[in-house]
Amino acid sequence: MSYINTNCVQAGYTPKNGEPRVIPIIQSTTFKYDTSEAMAKLFDLEASGYFYSRLQNPTCDYVAAKICALEGGTAAMLTSSGQAASLISVFNVAGCGDHVIACSAIYGGTYNLFNVTMRRMGIEFSFVGPDCTEEELNAAFRPNTKAVFGETISNPSLAVFNFDLFSKAAHAHGVPLIVDNTFATPINCRPFEHGADIVVHSTTKYIDGHASTIGGVIVDSGKFDWDAHADKFPGLTTPDESYHGLTYTKAFGQGGAFITKATAQLMRDLGSSQSPQSAFYINLGLESLHVRIPRHCENAMAVAKFLESNEDVAWVDYPGLPSNKYYDRVQKYLPNGTCGVISFGLKGGREAAEKFMKNLKLACVVTHVADARTCILHPASATHRQLSDEELVAAGVSPDLMRLSVGIEDVRDIIEDIDNAIKAVKE
Ligand SMILES: Cc1ncc(COP(=O)(O)O)c(C=O)c1O
Repeated sequence: MSYINTNCVQAGYTPKNGEPRVIPIIQSTTFKYDTSEAMAKLFDLEASGYFYSRLQNPTCDYVAAKICALEGGTAAMLTSSGQAASLISVFNVAGCGDHVIACSAIYGGTYNLFNVTMRRMGIEFSFVGPDCTEEELNAAFRPNTKAVFGETISNPSLAVFNFDLFSKAAHAHGVPLIVDNTFATPINCRPFEHGADIVVHSTTKYIDGHASTIGGVIVDSGKFDWDAHADKFPGLTTPDESYHGLTYTKAFGQGGAFITKATAQLMRDLGSSQSPQSAFYINLGLESLHVRIPRHCENAMAVAKFLESNEDVAWVDYPGLPSNKYYDRVQKYLPNGTCGVISFGLKGGREAAEKFMKNLKLACVVTHVADARTCILHPASATHRQLSDEELVAAGVSPDLMRLSVGIEDVRDIIEDIDNAIKAVKE
């Protein structure tokens, strides 16, 4: 089974004779063994098996295995949220005294996690622009740099990641490239094919796709040779005294070391595990991901074209439009489509945006994107309302910006709703 559409439906779980056809929800914290010796082997990671759902649970593992197949990786783990996935993916290779380079065009929550919370943990971050030159990027590296982080399509700025530039620089400096592939999903982009080593997702977005379940996932490509850069990654290449003196690369090889360490050490200690019930919902989303994503993109393209041709619209930002500054990168990395999210502003600025939002009927005002239902946010009057107009511009969010997440309803209804709300602004 190799086609991605089939993997969305079937990968990760193959029932044996008489077992449930659908991924079962194993709602159990613990797992029973006949002897202490049998359990000891599990704790020593000498035998594989479940013992406590904070570390691993079969339902979560079936779903992680499906996402692993979709991304083309060697190992994967679910996390309680996208934030937990970003935290663990970076913390698994960088600790106090280390340095990480991140593209500045990333989700605001990730930016805050890095720039505030992880700095407090003693990790330094440098941020480089999505359109930086090779020289600027190379200049950001330090001897203690341990990873480079970027986002395939950034939320909300919709910048398309320059995979070739960032992966080349990361590898030239002997560090992995970690990519948040939330907006593109593996349907539209498979970062491992463009040089990424680790992929993370907020499964809360398109993977769930129904605004029902918070979650995250980390996938390892198995391509990064930790032993070749053993001095930089002692956590993976030397004995872990907190885990019976085990060396992850020796015990689990290049394809298994990263996820095993993240599970056995960080999930054990941080406890940001996904629940089996939530994993079940995430799988329901995955089963239709390959059907929903093309519809999101098709609808978004039609809406973006409608907005671009409307005389009351001041500007439209949608990476799929030929007029977009990232169109060439889209052709290279996302030739089948980008995502359902569009940013735009009306000619009347902030005031027009506020009036427009009030007149929408089908599109709901929510602080979410990537839902099957069309939704919209005006950051200046919601998430960023404490900022002045000048501060908004400095944060890259213009006062008139509206972030529209185009759903999978009939696009004629979506366009009519937008058209009516634009007309109402002038009344
Ligand atoms: C691109 C991206 N990454 C990560 C996150 C964080 O995910 P979560 O809300 O599941 O913690 C989000 C949330 O909006 C996101 O858009």
